[in-house]
Amino acid sequence: MSPAKKDIEAGRGPIAPPRHIAIIMDGNGRWAKSRGLPRSAGHSAGAEAFRTIANYCKAIGVKWLTVYAFSTENWKRSADEISWIMSLLEKYLLESIEKMERDGMRLVIYGDESALSPRLRSLMDRARDVAEHVEGFTANVCVNYGGRAEILRAAKRYAEDYVNHSAPELTEESFSGYMYTAGLPEPELLIRTGGEKRISNFLLWQLAYTEMYFTDTLWPDFGPAELDKAIEFFNGRQRRFGAAE
Ligand code: FPP
Repeated sequence: MSPAKKDIEAGRGPIAPPRHIAIIMDGNGRWAKSRGLPRSAGHSAGAEAFRTIANYCKAIGVKWLTVYAFSTENWKRSADEISWIMSLLEKYLLESIEKMERDGMRLVIYGDESALSPRLRSLMDRARDVAEHVEGFTANVCVNYGGRAEILRAAKRYAEDYVNHSAPELTEESFSGYMYTAGLPEPELLIRTGGEKRISNFLLWQLAYTEMYFTDTLWPDFGPAELDKAIEFFNGRQRRFGAAE
């Protein structure tokens, strides 16, 4: 049963799911190892899990899902593993470009594209063009992304506008407009799978007030039932805040 239905039946009244959920998808390697499979198989299963969760988020009324697919630290992995993850991203981008309009599902990439392959960059350009004409649920996929790098990038962009006399007064709100997430509400819920309890340089600016949900479940095993649990946790937290105020 969906969390919203459970709430209604328990007489608590419905609570909408978070509008914006962020996820650190961790545990693909361990998932594969525990099955005697290569790490690449874990990432393929992870890409499937992402597909399922994105569809589920859309179905239950989440508006934005932002996931960490490849961090600036991930370049330290083996060339084979990196190229496998990049090929999964290419495959996903191609699929999305074809289906975005039909499915009402936008795909947006955040991160420093300069280090990515020309093929991946051209797919990102195409995805951006298509996404402009699509409304509805948005999946933001962070690739070659780091939270500190994002803040530095925002500071540089602000400085450029300042020099050109086009910068607004510098406030938290106006500075947010220089982030990749410009115009989006901040994530209300962050989920990290795979047992670690760290932010790992993800969305440092945006997570200031976000509820954090950590689970030992490895990312490829994280399905709709697990997301329901995370949303129930979030709803419980929201209720406690309500009581205190
Ligand atoms: C973390 O698990 C996972 C990654 C660094 C890569 C995530 C990539 C995908 C889910 C596939 C591509 C994504 C999309 C959106 C198509 P890990 O390898 O650090 O696992 P471990 O901690 O068990 O070693």
